[in-house]
Amino acid sequence: MRLVLVGAPGSGKGTQAELLVKRLGLTYVGTGAILRDAIARKTPTGLLVKPLMDQGLLVPDEIVNDVVAELLQRKDRPERFVLDGYPRTRTQAIAFDDLQKKIDLPLTSVVSFAISDDEVVRRISSRRVCADKACLASYNLAFRRPKVENTCDKCHGPLLIRDDDKEETVRRRLQEFHKNTDALIEHYRRTGLLCEVDATQPVEAIYHSVLTSLGHSPDCSPKTNS
Ligand code: AP5
Repeated sequence: MRLVLVGAPGSGKGTQAELLVKRLGLTYVGTGAILRDAIARKTPTGLLVKPLMDQGLLVPDEIVNDVVAELLQRKDRPERFVLDGYPRTRTQAIAFDDLQKKIDLPLTSVVSFAISDDEVVRRISSRRVCADKACLASYNLAFRRPKVENTCDKCHGPLLIRDDDKEETVRRRLQEFHKNTDALIEHYRRTGLLCEVDATQPVEAIYHSVLTSLGHSPDCSPKTNS
């Protein structure tokens, strides 16, 4: 299985990707996480993209296309994966179509998460993430609290507010999302791979909708805080 998750910032792509990784044994590929890691390591790509990401702007298509192409052409590439946040523009989708043909790893589904901007802002304002880049656990002060205040349940590291989670940056990220998404969704609608889920539901209900749309029976509940 090879999936793409499409949705606004804060729509729950990362949360659902984590559950799908556990349930279906997929490899997680998140372009946002890869780029944040490049920023933390101060690589040439990281230095280039930092000011854009800090402002809530998209990284240029060619940079993110190269990041994904490099990863999926390695000898130890994942063969079954969930892509979180890529492709994010029609141009990226076309480049990714070409890459899939070249590496013979066709997508099996594209899941689109439908949610309002106000709900996104509400969720992101209470998101906290683990400071440890190797852990990447994500919490929410309203919906998914850590067991000990400000401390990661998994690695016991401190929790932080993501650099691009300030409200004005989130609004900019939403503008970027709306600018690009209709064309992206239309691209995938034409392929017949697209399914849409109501992302305003609770985490478990979305998880069940996603599994059902992928043809898997949602016969066991996810452990949403482990
Ligand atoms: P990226 O890291 O991909 O961020 P994003 O797409 O903006 O998405 P988020 O990680 O903010 O949210 P999410 O949908 O994963 O939601 P989450 O599960 O965390 O990208 C960051 C930046 O990198 C971009 O702005 C861009 O600059 C750059 N970039 C990355 N990919 C790119 C590309 N392809 N092209 C160009 N630039 C690119 O949930 C959010 C919160 O809500 C959490 O606190 C969670 O606990 C909570 N929550 C989740 N589900 C629910 C629920 N059902 N009910 C209540 N709360 C919930």
